[in-house]
Amino acid sequence: MRKKIAAGNWKMYKNFEEAIELATSFANSEIPEDVTVILGVPFVYLKSVAVITAANKRIFISAQNSHDKNEGAYTGEVSPVMLKSMEIPFVILGHSERREYYNESPELLKLKVRAALDNGLKVIFCVGEPLLIRKAGNHEQYVKEQLKISISELSGDDMKNIVIAYEPIWAIGTGETATPEQAQEMHKMIRSYLNETFGQFVAKETSILYGGSVKPSNAREIFGQEDVDGGLVGGASLDFDSFYEIINAF
Ligand code: 13P
Repeated sequence: MRKKIAAGNWKMYKNFEEAIELATSFANSEIPEDVTVILGVPFVYLKSVAVITAANKRIFISAQNSHDKNEGAYTGEVSPVMLKSMEIPFVILGHSERREYYNESPELLKLKVRAALDNGLKVIFCVGEPLLIRKAGNHEQYVKEQLKISISELSGDDMKNIVIAYEPIWAIGTGETATPEQAQEMHKMIRSYLNETFGQFVAKETSILYGGSVKPSNAREIFGQEDVDGGLVGGASLDFDSFYEIINAF
């Protein structure tokens, strides 16, 4: 049975004190047994948040990026080897903000995914189309291409360590959410792509998260869709009460 996942992406928010306070609230909270919570934490707070949440077995920590190389003269960068050495289990790769503002191409992301998996990290791999592509009706093709270039050469075993997040760019931070039907349509397409590429087992077992203005008020309906296995949540994950409600929305 594939996992139900509520993942928060803190992006570049929170000072240290606020991060510790939020992490402590989650550490002390009761999380439903069938839900996995992942906190996507800025690099500088990763270890502190991991230590605080360690006692809560339902919470896992994720980085928000990692390099495609294990080490080297790359000032300011963080490698998957470093994350592994700090026992950080997850990394978010391919977020649209990384693709857009840091020119991360599908080809580079293929290398980043490989490097992360080679270091034993689990990857939350993000895909999603911009508004113009959606308006032109090319969203399915666009997302399929993102998957094809970056992950199609992975093995079935690799895929055990991949979670897909579908995040339509027009719904990120805009307050505009894909309708549950739009989300389901894309998730179903992604699952059938996984079926064609990796076979039935991978398609059935891979969790596919929806991201883009998930809130307490819409989480239940979105998570209720057949092919939606949870959410990757930005804004609403920065507040304990709202993310806790989302965690309990399955
Ligand atoms: P919002 O939930 O703020 O729209 O952000 C979604 C997102 O980008 C999660 O990675």
